[in-house]
Amino acid sequence: MLIDTHAHLYAKQFDQDRDEMIARAEANGIHKFFLPNIDSLSIEGMLALEDKYPDKCFAMMGLHPCSVKEGYEKELSIMEDWLRKRPFVAIGEIGIDLYWDKTFFEQQKKAFNQQVEWAIDLDLPIVIHCRESMDITIKLVERFGGKVKGIFHCFGGSLEQAKKIMDLGFLMGIGGVLTFKKANLASVVKEIPLEYLVLETDAPYLAPVPFRGKRNESGYVLSIAEHLAKAKEISLEKVAEITTKNALNLFE
Ligand code: NI
Repeated sequence: MLIDTHAHLYAKQFDQDRDEMIARAEANGIHKFFLPNIDSLSIEGMLALEDKYPDKCFAMMGLHPCSVKEGYEKELSIMEDWLRKRPFVAIGEIGIDLYWDKTFFEQQKKAFNQQVEWAIDLDLPIVIHCRESMDITIKLVERFGGKVKGIFHCFGGSLEQAKKIMDLGFLMGIGGVLTFKKANLASVVKEIPLEYLVLETDAPYLAPVPFRGKRNESGYVLSIAEHLAKAKEISLEKVAEITTKNALNLFE
């Protein structure tokens, strides 16, 4: 069994064929899908999908850094209400994004720290988005001194950064970037113990080669697993076994 630890399957890009897309993923051996939230507007669709697939789709709750803007405090209070109201598998996705917009950097840090505190309080893992901000985000997590666990989603960093993440006891989410030749991620993951890796798509974004630039979907986790097996010179079965165990240990 394979797991997609990060997929926005409630996104409108899947409105025409969501059930078929999930069926295709299952045919490829992917049987669990973890759904990171974005903001207040994505909650309804995400929870509806979880209702429809209660033993396959699992919702997280959190405010994405790209949705931290003017008035983000109101958004955060909606996230907190949900977190106090019912169980979620994780707080996510949360973090820092300096790629799209640096205007709200200070607010992004505040929102991140607040949500990490909730995670500690509720004993939940966090799923971290850090685009153009990995070192900054590692420092933010370090301040919590090992009180929180989780995933650095969409890992594309150096071995040095990977070591810092492992020191924090965090996992790294490996997705389509592994298949991009220029990213050179294969040579880095070769050196990272499999015990620190989980698989993800970030669907509908970041499709792996040969689908790069097109819509991503959870079935492509199989292709990412195959690339990982090749990079680490181990069997696909081993990749499936260990990454699945890592994901279940964290989320359950
Ligand atoms: Ni995402």
